[in-house]
Amino acid sequence: MALLQVENISKSFGERKLFQNLSFQLEQGKVYTLLGPNGSGKSTILNILTGFIKADSGTITFNDQILNSKSPKEISRLGIVRTFQDLRLINNLSVKENVLLVLDKKMFHITSYEEYTKVSEILKRVSLETVEKNLGSDLSYGQQKLLTLACCLANEPKLLLLDEPVSGIDKENQEKIKLLVQELKAEDKTIIQVEHNRDYIKETSDFVLYLNNGIIDISQNNN
Ligand SMILES: Nc1ncnc2c1ncn2[C@@H]1O[C@H](COP(=O)(O)OP(=O)(O)OP(=O)(O)O)[C@@H](O)[C@H]1O
Ligand SMILES: [Mg+2]
Repeated sequence: MALLQVENISKSFGERKLFQNLSFQLEQGKVYTLLGPNGSGKSTILNILTGFIKADSGTITFNDQILNSKSPKEISRLGIVRTFQDLRLINNLSVKENVLLVLDKKMFHITSYEEYTKVSEILKRVSLETVEKNLGSDLSYGQQKLLTLACCLANEPKLLLLDEPVSGIDKENQEKIKLLVQELKAEDKTIIQVEHNRDYIKETSDFVLYLNNGIIDISQNNN
């Protein structure tokens, strides 16, 4: 059975019908890229999968659990973790504190040695270990995107949702993110990403989901 099943979901904002009876499924260990024109509803789909927005109807099942009435927090505890198009980092906390905050949402708790070690490992993985004491706001845009990925990894995701992971960033950090996504896939993680960069899509995706006028088409990426 698929890791995630989306069955007949519909969503309107007021008069604007984004989609009706949309269905698709995600298999474990695969990378999916969600494409579509501006305003077609890509970010909304990510918001629905993570519980930030509720679908008007339809069912979403993850690992045999129905997500429809679960909160974003409950959904993230099940292992569905996302980045945001607008990043949502805390600029006046350090790089390390941004990741620690994910591990324990309380600002003033005493961090355990295990947590510190875990965060150091994650920061190494995203190549930010040398800037761990810098403020979030001191990072380049590409580094900030890597930091949002570090925050995701701290949540131990099974399914990652990435909203524009490489758009607007320099080549070097783009390459790092590409390699990280390929590594995560090799570890059997499942990824659904919204991204427009063609080379990146080619080199990371197993499937492309094309959303247009409320209809989704799936095609295999043959590189
Ligand atoms: N919370 C909301 N309330 C009302 N309308 C919304 C809300 N979120 C999104 N919309 C509208 O729904 C439509 C789809 O938005 P969405 O952000 O999902 O598109 P997108 O495909 O991610 O676009 P982009 O490529 O620009 O990121 C847009 O017309 C947007 O204005
Ligand atoms: Mg969007």
